[in-house]
Amino acid sequence: MFTLFLPIILAHVIIKPMIKFPKDFLWGASTSAYQVEGNNSNTDWWEWERNRPGSALSGGACGHYQRFREDFDLAKSLGHNCHRLSLEWSRIQPGPERFCQEEINHYIQVIDHLRSLGIEPVVTLHHFTNPLWLSRIGGWENPKAAQYFLDYARKIVYLLAPKVKFWVTVNEPMVYTYYSYLTGEWPPQKKSRLLAWKVSDNLVEAHILSYRLIHSIYKKSGLGAPLVSIAQNMIAFLPCKKSPRNKLAAYLRNRLFNFRLIEDLIRKNSLDFIGMNYYTRHLIETRGWSFDELLTRNCREGHADLAKNSLGWEVYPQGLHDLLKVLKKYKLPVFILENGICCQDDEKRWDFIREHLKNIHAAMADQVPVIGYLYWSLLDNFEWDKGFAPRFGLCEVDYSDYKRTPRDSARKFAQVALTGLLE
Ligand code: GCO
Repeated sequence: MFTLFLPIILAHVIIKPMIKFPKDFLWGASTSAYQVEGNNSNTDWWEWERNRPGSALSGGACGHYQRFREDFDLAKSLGHNCHRLSLEWSRIQPGPERFCQEEINHYIQVIDHLRSLGIEPVVTLHHFTNPLWLSRIGGWENPKAAQYFLDYARKIVYLLAPKVKFWVTVNEPMVYTYYSYLTGEWPPQKKSRLLAWKVSDNLVEAHILSYRLIHSIYKKSGLGAPLVSIAQNMIAFLPCKKSPRNKLAAYLRNRLFNFRLIEDLIRKNSLDFIGMNYYTRHLIETRGWSFDELLTRNCREGHADLAKNSLGWEVYPQGLHDLLKVLKKYKLPVFILENGICCQDDEKRWDFIREHLKNIHAAMADQVPVIGYLYWSLLDNFEWDKGFAPRFGLCEVDYSDYKRTPRDSARKFAQVALTGLLE
């Protein structure tokens, strides 16, 4: 009997090899406060939405502020053992010299609930939004911004330290600077290289100072060392036609957007792991040698072969493997803090997740120390200037009554998270 089935078993093993992830791998999803909580009315984004004709309003978002228990119970039921969230600075520090104990207690409860479910929290301190009072005095252009950020960090990190191991100081500093100060699409809608420079410097300073602060708090409190990083968005930059100019552009963008900041922070001893966000590739097609051409022009044609998300971003899982291999030389653990797709067709979402996981696994087989994977996002949510239309969630949100419904992709992902096995 066994010999009869042996060829079938062998064929199954050979044709569909199982991919196995380590037992202690971190699995879960990411969210950010403004995109899910609702009513973060004391922020620059809230004010900006109201002053921008035709803008989508974040309003109650996903009502997560009231529903966090239900949402984390759902994450638990979907096999997650880790969750990344952000704290809303404006709630905790509603004025430059004022902290709100009620809001602090709220976040303590949020973290306690995750812990009670055995879900490891990854806590982001800054995810794109700023308190209104800070934006009124120049936001991140203000030379004192990093000091204000430190006041907020000091207050909250002391309280959460015993419950949190992973910290992300600033989410995607380059993306924030790019959209808020170069393209001018996000508040405060400025277009100035000089200001962009200043702002990115201040964000880097905020990271380095808060990195040191977090470590010193853990030390003073007699706690084991925390793991602190930023979330760095990485894009696979490839030349469209392989001209020397396009190749140069790809090289420059790779250096400037993907690796420069990480190298800088490693040199300054302020990165315990590499927090990486990965979504897509850009195919580069320059028309001249100017800085703008080299750094921004992409090709429109030639994209037809790849699937796209509903915002038109190309799906390119191979790029994740390629970037991870480059990260190997830094000899730091790599944590995928965001990777996801917005789409109507949920099968596409599962394909996206599966293919990216395969590429992560391949990179791990190449000795890249990846420690976890967090899908963006647990829920459909408010996608900044694009509003609620893009659907990134493992769980669908019905915005009329806030009902959550896990999608098929969420269940398939749960199988992987629970077993560590991917077919
Ligand atoms: C980001 C973001 C999220 C976005 C996601 C999809 O860090 O860019 O953290 O806020 O919603 O990337 O665009």
